[in-house]
Amino acid sequence: MLSEDLITQCKLRLEPFACEGFVYGAGPTRPLLMFVGEAPGETEINNGIPFSGKAGRYFDHYLEHLGITRNDIYITSSVRSRPYKWGKPHNKPARKYNRTPNQKEIAAHAPILDAEIEATKPPIIVPMGRIAYWRLLGSSPKMEELTGTFIHSPIRRLDDWEKNTYDFTPEIYTIFPLYHPAAILYKRSLETVIYTHLNELKSALKNI
Ligand code: URA
Repeated sequence: MLSEDLITQCKLRLEPFACEGFVYGAGPTRPLLMFVGEAPGETEINNGIPFSGKAGRYFDHYLEHLGITRNDIYITSSVRSRPYKWGKPHNKPARKYNRTPNQKEIAAHAPILDAEIEATKPPIIVPMGRIAYWRLLGSSPKMEELTGTFIHSPIRRLDDWEKNTYDFTPEIYTIFPLYHPAAILYKRSLETVIYTHLNELKSALKNI
């Protein structure tokens, strides 16, 4: 679906940054939903499967609750490589830790997500977490204020590859922001509200 040329260019754009591996988006050409995450972690860059690590277990529960499978959806992320930082646990050798991607890293891989959206035309895009929301809509409200509601809006696409500036699509997309599944790992109490949001999304699926 994506040209290898585009991927090569985007990999080059990311080269100056502390990021490793590359995970391709996965899913059919006409998905029911597109889920957009933040960036892969260690598990994903080793096996190439998006959302296959700890957060992936919760992501699979999302799908189960929605009554759909990975074959029905497209899964991708704002950055396709793992942003890392070095750290040293007590009495253990230094190792890499995941970190949040910065704006330059997100812009480096932005053309990939732009191309995936253009090619698959998902009826609903589900950004999971603050980074994916910012990537698509350009603002960072509090997650509790924006999750679980439908937004009809143009989305951002990279406009100038040198200056890393975005413009907005002429098309209006339907966006349904959700908490990132990793949020449950840090705050168990979010589970109830997340499942309320998933019920909303499930109802909307009946009309696609
Ligand atoms: N978070 C993401 O955004 N993608 C993954 O594959 C895993 C965690």
